[in-house]
Amino acid sequence: MKVVVNDVELELAPGTSAIDAVFAAGDDVPYFCSQEYMSPIGACRMCLARVGSPRKDRDGNWILDEETGEPKIFWFPNLMATCTTQVSEGMVIDTESEAVKNAQNGMVEFTLINHPLDCPVCDKGGACELQDRSYEYGDGLSRFEFDKRHSEKHHELSELITLDRERCIHCKRCVRFFEEVPGDEVLDFIERSSHTFIGTMEGGLPSNFSGNIADICPVGALLDASSRFRGRNWEYDHTRSTGMDDATGSAVIVDARTGRIERIKAALNPDVNKTWIDDGTRFGHEYVDSPDRLTTPLVRRSGELQPATWPEAAAFIAERLAGLGGKDVGLAIRADSTLEEGVAAQALAEKLGTGQIDHAPRPAASVIANRPATLTELATADAILVLGDVTEEAGIIDLRIKDALKGVTPPAMMAHGVPIADLRLKERMPRNASILTVAAPYRVDLMRHAGTAITYPVGGEAAFFAALTAVAEGEELSAEQSAALGTDIGTAKQLVKRLQDGKNAVVVLGGFALARRDAADAARAFVKAVGAKEMPVGPMANSYGLELLGVLPSHERYSYEGMLEGARALVLSNLDPAKDPDVAAKLKDLELLVVHDMFMTETALLADVVLPARSVYERDGTVVNLEGRFLPVRAAPVEAGNAEDLTGVVRYLGEALGERMEGRSVRSARRVLKKRFDMDLAELADYGTMPKARSRAAQRTSPREAPATGGNLLIVPSMARAEYLSRNPHLNAAVGGPKLRMNPADAAQQGLMDGAEVRLRAGGIWRDAVVHVTNNVPSGLMTLPTLPEQAVGVTQADLGSLVVNQVRLEVAS
Ligand code: SF4
Ligand code: FES
Repeated sequence: MKVVVNDVELELAPGTSAIDAVFAAGDDVPYFCSQEYMSPIGACRMCLARVGSPRKDRDGNWILDEETGEPKIFWFPNLMATCTTQVSEGMVIDTESEAVKNAQNGMVEFTLINHPLDCPVCDKGGACELQDRSYEYGDGLSRFEFDKRHSEKHHELSELITLDRERCIHCKRCVRFFEEVPGDEVLDFIERSSHTFIGTMEGGLPSNFSGNIADICPVGALLDASSRFRGRNWEYDHTRSTGMDDATGSAVIVDARTGRIERIKAALNPDVNKTWIDDGTRFGHEYVDSPDRLTTPLVRRSGELQPATWPEAAAFIAERLAGLGGKDVGLAIRADSTLEEGVAAQALAEKLGTGQIDHAPRPAASVIANRPATLTELATADAILVLGDVTEEAGIIDLRIKDALKGVTPPAMMAHGVPIADLRLKERMPRNASILTVAAPYRVDLMRHAGTAITYPVGGEAAFFAALTAVAEGEELSAEQSAALGTDIGTAKQLVKRLQDGKNAVVVLGGFALARRDAADAARAFVKAVGAKEMPVGPMANSYGLELLGVLPSHERYSYEGMLEGARALVLSNLDPAKDPDVAAKLKDLELLVVHDMFMTETALLADVVLPARSVYERDGTVVNLEGRFLPVRAAPVEAGNAEDLTGVVRYLGEALGERMEGRSVRSARRVLKKRFDMDLAELADYGTMPKARSRAAQRTSPREAPATGGNLLIVPSMARAEYLSRNPHLNAAVGGPKLRMNPADAAQQGLMDGAEVRLRAGGIWRDAVVHVTNNVPSGLMTLPTLPEQAVGVTQADLGSLVVNQVRLEVAS
């Protein structure tokens, strides 16, 4: 429809807001309360404009202006909030008249009445919307001489978020965020008028997505507690990259200052994370700045690990490798290595003549879907089945599912980006929970939002999907099959029908479904039987990419687990198998153990050579997310000593072995990748690329798989990576440490209190944990967060080994 903004005529889609019309015309209008992915509410009154529109007479004809003969414009009696005004045919919007300028000026003055104007000591200074708008639209003078409202300036809303109540301008973005985006209503306005403040009733912000409110608060009222007072905005180097914490590939901005990462913020990727990230991605970076980072290579001489240069370390490795048959050498890299590092690892394996190459953790089943669903398809699905705990596994999946419950398709991009005000979004919108079914062996958070929640028997994924397939195919179920469903037959029939009838049905396969081949086969047979699409969730940021590239063993017995037992020499990148004492005993017998890692892990302590590794924030490269989207990873300017990524390792080793190997640098690896994927990865756009034709995944072998049943411990996904938790103090405090969750009856039987710090041998590995007593875990089962060395699935905890280190004086809540 035709709209005129400040004399510029535009053609806009019906439903567009007047504020977006102004931006589409290339003009500006100030705003505070609007946010592109939340409901427009007209709270701040900053976006006022003069708006008029033509009218029709009773016969349906435009009322014409007598002088011009054109449709007459009838101006609204008051200035309008453009964020809540929808454009109509012939609407005229004026943001430049004296009346509008006076109103904008007045609103800035009004908003500043009680604002402390402590910009010189505010973390938001230099990136504050109120500061910018006051400068652009304010008068520069204050007429208020009375005392301002005083309030609490250091209120800890949680371990992660600090609130300065004086700075709040009551835009309600934070309150709306929790209700509208994750659906965790943990914050609200309290009191009225100028006494209004935001707060929680229970204390804390129990949500996996709490950090987003620090990004969207237009002023410095809500701040990331981990970076508070660490630097001014103009001092940070902002690096746009991809979150490496899970398989969704959220867009992030890494802010570094003087060689240190100070904070991570969410960046916009409309097709992936919109503008949200989970707290694991945001706050899980502090380990990078740990004082115990390895910064120089170490070589074992006379039984001691001693500092060496890279060429010395590489020469030492080359000399020792010369005495070994290539097939005896194993090479394993962590599954968040980039594609470029994968190429480097493959080139090294080829040079050494070994088929023992793998990435870990790697689930028993492929993470590449047969019938793939994108995150946008998930967000617009009309029937969803989730197996697992995706809120912990890859939080963005949780949020995109909640988009689907609202039933609003993401808006089309406009020239100025995502619309600022999507008028279809409303506060407290009804959510269609009936389209969502969540199944897991214990009660997971997403079940609160699901129309149907199913708790099936532990380790029973294969039987669960096989029984559902039998329902889909109209078979009579045996008693055993009925028990495997974890719900009654009527509910199962409804679920199957919903998925079959759905025009866009998606089944999300969390780690439990991929942990065993029989479970994944059964899941994929079910997906096919109901005609749905699938979204497998790989365990790490580049699980998909490394499988696609083929960083895989040539034979099943050469998998990571196999090579720990069978190889005579090992090169391990960012993996720590010696956490298991039985594996450590075998590693001691190796003829050569090379460990590439950031820290002196238990495996590094046994190594002949230790090579310092770059963290995921210090690498350039590419990852492929769970949709198959290629996304750019960019290195932040962080001081990491002589640390190198795998391409650097291969460069030095190549020099020592007398060969310029492919993958000796990111550039060289990209030449190989261009041939493989027909893509120039150096030019990859911020939002990433989904190849039109999918490359064929490499032929894959399977690693050893977890037992189906028979354990008392379930290794579960965790938003906060357990291997780094002790070096991530803020996140550790917020999530309450690595939780050993157990049922109250089991805790009583073991004589354990909530909060007890324990050590136990779980699946062979000694784990430190904090007991969390909860009814969400069935009796006879405990859960513990996954490690790279301990994939999700059932295992056995040795309760005889359980030692209570310390009992905190906290009573179970
Ligand atoms: S704390 Fe920030 S986001 Fe929340 S209402 Fe106040 S100004 Fe708005
Ligand atoms: S009233 Fe706040 S942006 Fe329109």
